[in-house]
Amino acid sequence: MLSTVACRALAITFIGLALTNNVQGSNHPISNDIVCPTNSHVSFVHNSYTYNAPLHKFTDITGSFFNASWNPGVIVNSTTGTDNVPGATRSGSFAGYIFNETLTAIEKRSDALLSSYHGKGFTFILGPSYPALRVDGYSETLRFESICSGKATYIDFITYTCSDNQRLTYTAWSMAHTSALDGLAQTLGATILAGVCPEEAHCDKH
Ligand SMILES: *[C@@H]1O[C@H](CO)[C@@H](O)[C@H](O)[C@H]1NC(C)=O
Ligand SMILES: *[C@@H]1O[C@H](CO)[C@@H](O)[C@H](O)[C@H]1NC(C)=O
Ligand SMILES: *[C@@H]1O[C@H](CO)[C@@H](O)[C@H](O)[C@H]1NC(C)=O
Repeated sequence: MLSTVACRALAITFIGLALTNNVQGSNHPISNDIVCPTNSHVSFVHNSYTYNAPLHKFTDITGSFFNASWNPGVIVNSTTGTDNVPGATRSGSFAGYIFNETLTAIEKRSDALLSSYHGKGFTFILGPSYPALRVDGYSETLRFESICSGKATYIDFITYTCSDNQRLTYTAWSMAHTSALDGLAQTLGATILAGVCPEEAHCDKH
């Protein structure tokens, strides 16, 4: 008999193993390598989320590179190339900033949606008490993966950024990722999965 805590730890381990296998089993090239100009440094930001909603709920509305309306505050108003074909670009505004991103890889499977894109630089002001943040470019991979036998979804953002302030870059990107995913989950009415797959954990309730 396992305690709830041990059971949760096991569930988390199994989720981790399942994801590792999925990623290794895929041919998705995570093309996140970036080269920073002089006086600019690489930052790495990884945020992950799990929700009690099946994968298709998310991918039905996030499956188009040209349509980012699922991400609150993001407006795409100009595109080049063909949607979901690497080399396509999307440009628009986010919180008053202009972005221009090029799709570098995409993989759609029945159990996952993975996409990577590269973004051009801009200067960002996070708020009145923050210094201006110069971003010299970024590479981002967004993954949606089905977990818990299709009942839940694991989502993560992996971002490499060139900037003049690594600490502020971490804060800004984490905030952007979390606000995007909170907004999306709210739209879908999806609740956060706290660690144990629904109806799959046969643990004692203490
Ligand atoms: C973009 O996606 C939203 C959400 O799924 C949808 O309502 C809207 O019609 C889409 N816009 C276009 C131009 O396809
Ligand atoms: C569309 O986006 C461009 C930048 O990509 C911006 O300069 C322009 O003001 C935007 N136009 C509209 C109508 O929002
Ligand atoms: C975004 O960048 C691409 C690639 O450099 C370019 O072809 C496209 O015109 C740019 N879009 C805007 C709106 O600047």
